[in-house]
Amino acid sequence: MTDLALYSLSDEHKMIQNAARDFAQKEILSIAAEFDESEEFPYDTIKKMGELGFMGLEIPEQYGGAGMDTLAYVLALEEICKADASHGVIMSVNNSLYCHGIMKFGTEEQKKKFVTPIASGKAIGAYSLTEPQSGSDAGTMKSRAVLDGDHFILNGRKSWVTSGPVAEYFVVFMMTDPAKKQKGVSAFLVEGNTPGLIRGKKEPKLGIRASATSELIFEDCRVPTENLLGKEGEGFKIAMTVLDAGRIGIATQALGIAEAAYEAARRYAVEREAFGQPIGQFQGTGFKIADMKTRIEASRLLIYNAALAKEKSKKDGGRYSLEASMAKLFASETAMYVTHQAVQIHGGMGYSKELPVERYFRDAKITEIYEGTSEIQRHVISRSELGFK
Ligand code: CAA
Repeated sequence: MTDLALYSLSDEHKMIQNAARDFAQKEILSIAAEFDESEEFPYDTIKKMGELGFMGLEIPEQYGGAGMDTLAYVLALEEICKADASHGVIMSVNNSLYCHGIMKFGTEEQKKKFVTPIASGKAIGAYSLTEPQSGSDAGTMKSRAVLDGDHFILNGRKSWVTSGPVAEYFVVFMMTDPAKKQKGVSAFLVEGNTPGLIRGKKEPKLGIRASATSELIFEDCRVPTENLLGKEGEGFKIAMTVLDAGRIGIATQALGIAEAAYEAARRYAVEREAFGQPIGQFQGTGFKIADMKTRIEASRLLIYNAALAKEKSKKDGGRYSLEASMAKLFASETAMYVTHQAVQIHGGMGYSKELPVERYFRDAKITEIYEGTSEIQRHVISRSELGFK
């Protein structure tokens, strides 16, 4: 990392960064390729990450978390993602998509019951918004929740749920009043063993293959009314608020992947010789290294800025959608650029499974897609700048 005067880290920040780096380099790096190949969920290392406090970094200690700030979360996540992006997305979803929304919109009882097991690393959480026919256009979901006495009855089909096959707890978005469109969406907290919640097909994926992704099917799934998160009809706003936090996590995942690929390419550019000199001495390679490094540092600045904006929002309640979207857009496109160049610099070895560079290239692609595509981020940024709704 460049010594950025703008972000002189506190001792606490350096401590969590070093702890995450140590753990990631010692325990995750050596298993990443094997779990990518087998598509197994890395239960053991995820459990250890929970014990280290990585699953609820910003959650107050009374709810099982580490009680740190957003910058601490970003610094730790970056180190985990440098070793393996699959571990990174599991951590990001637990911290942001799952815990953040309950902390912001949940009741005291909901926080105790639904945040504590996840933030303390004893269980895994997931967030379920997307449906087969509604991804970017999230407000057009078809799944229905109907009030029946002191329960809601949930029916429908959800897709692309990160940690869907393994999660013990879910935040789920369903229509309670379709006539009201987005204002008819509500959010529910659902325990994984509730009858009528069925785990669907596990998705075979190009990258982040150790992270398990699946469909969820709801068939007359009865959820008590006390599990309504926020107010009825508030679900779309909750989903969007939570995605702002999630996007900082995915931006950080992209940064970690890019840094790992860059480090590999930089080493190779110095060690590998062609035509009698290190390939980094050819301008064609040297300029790639310059652009990779510059874009990585620019991503880092946007991410740290978004982290500080989120921290400010905890005090003044303001939104940080613009900062989060700019960070995710730039960092994910940087990850794609950097991993592409890293493969190219490595030549044939970049295409080989003997080195991790091809995995970085595959893992990077998802960061331009999930938690809002690059097109959605451009939409959020441009309408914020132009003042259009
Ligand atoms: N924070 C708070 N409120 C927000 C908000 C935000 N970030 N964004 C929108 N809202 C509010 C608006 O203020 C508006 O409220 P009012 O009507 O009271 O003013 C309401 O929500 C509707 O907003 P829009 O009119 O802007 O809604 P839209 O239909 O134009 O949609 C969108 C906006 C940006 C396109 C949004 O739909 C979006 O972000 N889509 C992408 C969804 C997405 O990221 N999906 C990924 C799912 S998660 C995943 O990938 C799987 C996983 O497990 C990791």
